[in-house]
Amino acid sequence: MNLLAELRRRFHQALDGICDDPSEYTSMVRPAQDARFGDFQANCAMPLGKVTGKNPREVAGELVERLDVSELCDPPEIAGPGFINLRVRDDWLVAETSRMLSDPRLGHHAVETPRHVVIDYSSPNVAKPMHVGHLRSTVIGDALARVFRFQGHRVTADNHVGDWGTQFGMIIQGYRNFLDPEAYAAEPVAELSRLYRLVNRVAGYHDKRAGLPANRDRLEERRQALAELEEVIAEGDKSKKGDAKKLRAEVAALAETVSSDEAEVAAVEADAELATVAAGHPDIAEASRAETARLHAGDAENRALWEEFLPPCLEVMESVYRRLGISFDLTLGESHYQPMLAGVVESLQQQGLASDSEGAVCVFIEGNDAPFIVRKTDGAFTYATTDLATIRYRVEELDADEMLYVVDARQGEHFRLLFETARQWGYSDVEFAHVSFGTVLGDDRRPFKTRSGDTVGLESLLDEAVTRARGIVDENDDQKPDGPELDESTRAAVAETVGLGGIKYADLHHNRESDYQFSWDKMLATNGDSATYMQYACARILGIFRRGEISRESLRDEAPAIVLEDDAERALAMALNRFADAVDITVVERRPNVLTGYLFETANTFSTFYNTCSVLKEEDPARRLSRLALCDLAARVFETGLELLGIASCDQM
Ligand code: ARG
Repeated sequence: MNLLAELRRRFHQALDGICDDPSEYTSMVRPAQDARFGDFQANCAMPLGKVTGKNPREVAGELVERLDVSELCDPPEIAGPGFINLRVRDDWLVAETSRMLSDPRLGHHAVETPRHVVIDYSSPNVAKPMHVGHLRSTVIGDALARVFRFQGHRVTADNHVGDWGTQFGMIIQGYRNFLDPEAYAAEPVAELSRLYRLVNRVAGYHDKRAGLPANRDRLEERRQALAELEEVIAEGDKSKKGDAKKLRAEVAALAETVSSDEAEVAAVEADAELATVAAGHPDIAEASRAETARLHAGDAENRALWEEFLPPCLEVMESVYRRLGISFDLTLGESHYQPMLAGVVESLQQQGLASDSEGAVCVFIEGNDAPFIVRKTDGAFTYATTDLATIRYRVEELDADEMLYVVDARQGEHFRLLFETARQWGYSDVEFAHVSFGTVLGDDRRPFKTRSGDTVGLESLLDEAVTRARGIVDENDDQKPDGPELDESTRAAVAETVGLGGIKYADLHHNRESDYQFSWDKMLATNGDSATYMQYACARILGIFRRGEISRESLRDEAPAIVLEDDAERALAMALNRFADAVDITVVERRPNVLTGYLFETANTFSTFYNTCSVLKEEDPARRLSRLALCDLAARVFETGLELLGIASCDQM
């Protein structure tokens, strides 16, 4: 049973009549932090006391009086200033755990009113190297798609690939001028990606070189302004301290830009090949933009090239997804919406939402300085126009009720404007959310990069994870008391599962909004908050059944009575019964780390249980069977939980 939801419902009933809006207070019913105070705690009496002017303990008393949880909990206790402590009844726990044993959904009740949720994730830009940022979107998006589905919603996983952007102008430009035909024949995507990087780098070089004098002047000017300000402060005007702080930050940022631009300009000039290309193509950026414009205008030659480039690029992406066990219901790239863009702008204009501004067409959102540009001065449509067309399509054609965008936090402003425009445009019934996430950082706390300076390519990252995992699998197996158990192919398969699981879990268990520091050691730790630890817990339980030669299925069929005498048994049963709540909260908060946190806690609780309670060696037959049932349930909670995160488990490790 989704116990927390049920308790909140009961509190809602009890609160009705005591206050105007019970739902404000029901969220204050939570799992207890400390098991000594029970299993759940409600601290709504304190704020209610403030509102009603009554003593919170009195409010708590009144609430408890009205609260009907008698078949779920022991009589509630009021503690301290007015905390209401709830302890789940042992007989309820026994009955519910028995029920779970025969329930494939592990006690989770699906939602009564399913919604159609479109989840937009992964969405890499085709032909540009895919990097850890896209991995984060892919992994978080896939986990959310799975959990929403489990919850009972209809989910459309949509990979909104960037297949129409300016990178194609650069690639076409590169293809015409710098193609290595042999390399292209052998590995088309690698060659296209090399061309993209080459053109992008040379364009960046010219841009930086051209901008340097002005940036240097500006830096000098700001430095002087800062020096003057500091003098004023030194003379006693403390009110300028805030301004100086801001200016100091600005100077630091400018200095950083100037020095990194200088370094990049020097690096290109020091590289014979790059320097030659740069010297021979001073207007490479302009030329690339022109190629993009020709493609968008329907030029036959560029269109043919685009059609040639796209399939192998998509195939490489597909192979990464296949390896990661990720699939989409739709892969509708930006190009799919091109025929609809003019209609979008027209509709916005007709509704008076968009207006001309210096030759461009913009939507102005109140309280926002920057306009949402839907058509540029040169007539080109934008990322914004495409996203608006996509919303229209998802509502009109797919009948979506909700859209989640699993995208980098740096696009926050874009999505704020997008959702507001969509609401005003007529899609106010649709729920929109930017499921944003932070940056993956390297050891130096800067965006994760390899030594060569490239953002880490995805495939090499996956390979490295598997290689490292293999080391751990070998070591673990070699150290087994009765000698190694795994043959070569099993070891390889386990390493793949552990390595990829580790990568995914590393992304999922951090609060998605925060940046996090990438660490191989933490990722593959066998005794920390890692996939390895959970996979290990799972394999260990299956080992118990193997050693005892007991079939999990027949155990379930036998439906043994659950006995919760030991504290560790009760704690484990309670933890298992929180599975449904963990799934619910993951959906409500759209945070996979709620589920990982739950699994980690439960794995720890299982560890304590396993260290204090004998299972196979238990002499009392009833207790032995009950403990085996708890083991089976724990393994199923880990397996299902990992599956909802898109992580495979291992029978043996
Ligand atoms: N292709 C974009 C990028 O790599 C992300 C697209 C996200 N989805 C969307 N509907 N805007 O930055």
